[in-house]
Amino acid sequence: MNRYHEILARYVARTPKSQALNERARRVLPGGDTRTGVYYAPYPAFMAQGSGKYLTDVDGNQYLDLLNNFTSLVHGHAHPALVHAAQEQLPRGTAFASPMLPQLELAETLAARVPSIEMVRFCNSGTEATMLALRAARAYTRRSGMIKMIGGYHGSHDFAAATMDPEADRGLAEGMYRDIYFASFNDLQAVENILREHAAAIAGILVEPIPNAGGLVLPRENYLRGLRALADQYNALLIFDEVITLRLNAGGFQNLAGVTPDLTALGKIIGGGFPVGAFGGKREIMQTFDPRAKNRIVHSGTFNGNNATMAAGLASLRLLDQPAIDQINALGQALARGFDDAFQEAGIMGQTTAYGSLVQVHWQRGEILNMQDVARGHKQAGDLPYLLHLELANRGVWSAVRGEFNTSTVLTQADVNHVVTTFNETLHYLKPYVAATNPTLLMQ
Ligand SMILES: Cc1ncc(COP(=O)(O)O)c(C=O)c1O
Repeated sequence: MNRYHEILARYVARTPKSQALNERARRVLPGGDTRTGVYYAPYPAFMAQGSGKYLTDVDGNQYLDLLNNFTSLVHGHAHPALVHAAQEQLPRGTAFASPMLPQLELAETLAARVPSIEMVRFCNSGTEATMLALRAARAYTRRSGMIKMIGGYHGSHDFAAATMDPEADRGLAEGMYRDIYFASFNDLQAVENILREHAAAIAGILVEPIPNAGGLVLPRENYLRGLRALADQYNALLIFDEVITLRLNAGGFQNLAGVTPDLTALGKIIGGGFPVGAFGGKREIMQTFDPRAKNRIVHSGTFNGNNATMAAGLASLRLLDQPAIDQINALGQALARGFDDAFQEAGIMGQTTAYGSLVQVHWQRGEILNMQDVARGHKQAGDLPYLLHLELANRGVWSAVRGEFNTSTVLTQADVNHVVTTFNETLHYLKPYVAATNPTLLMQ
């Protein structure tokens, strides 16, 4: 039995209840679940409970959580302050088809923290947040075209999901591509070329300052500043998707980069574990959502700004002050360093990209400049990212199949040390498989 089969056999042996539940789930849920990104073969573990930094699956296996529902649970699971905040609201009712106070308080908090946000609207997901930010940009500029980055992920509405890869784009509206202009991340010249040729058609530039799902690609020095200058030069709006990167600083990554976009999309951590999205920006743009405005944009949503989400979100941000952010950022950096050292020690050519509390493992060498570089490396790595994920899970560490890790405020340095040791042992364990399937990844 080679490593692949050993890993799989151990996984199956310790998850019989998950297997049975998956078989049952596949009868009514395509693939047994509702989220493409959380699937892995032969079936994902059914989680029964999250508490603090741990997840427990239905078979009783415990995992130290380094994924935190794809960064949204920055305080771990069921944090007492967040549970308390939501519990206080629940007996009073959750949504009334009227303005409610917790929404106002969260709006004031976001406006106080995030430089670009003078006014904000709430919705129920990051997907809606980017969709509505784009709508605002189109209404404000009266143009329809939008520049987006190849491989950039902004949620699941058609525009956000479009990549031009026929497999990934299955089911998207064909006519929409007319309005999309693709550029490689970190390539200012490409954006400039598009704007020079199509300025009259382009409403804005949509970018995630550090594309996460695309592989945590770091922006080159001056890239974001360059986008700001180009947007200004061609009268287009700059839209930051900070659904994930808000966690990097109290004011989001825009505060660190010193670049203020016209509009910002938010989600994840601002809902305290509940479904959430928000978008905000300059007053003059956001005022188009005022129902009293002459050329108003219609924006509805039955659960927009609901009390449970808003109260938990407020509690989440109160806890996530700058010292707390500094702490998770330091842990993230220690994790990345530990992973890089582990690759060196194991003699395997891998690397991390990392910023603050966000860490991504790559099974490739060389500079990673854009999402195409990441995709190429990922493809060449074959089964390795999957096996790393599964073997880490076998050893009690929870991460994303695509090699994504993030730290939370309930994690300690001792936890990080433990994860690094487990990662190191896993790499050594995988090495014979690397030698057999991907020998070019071994250092000479
Ligand atoms: C950068 C970015 N934008 C938007 C979204 C969509 O958010 P949601 O899953 O809440 O719709 C995500 C989700 O992972 C994201 O990472």
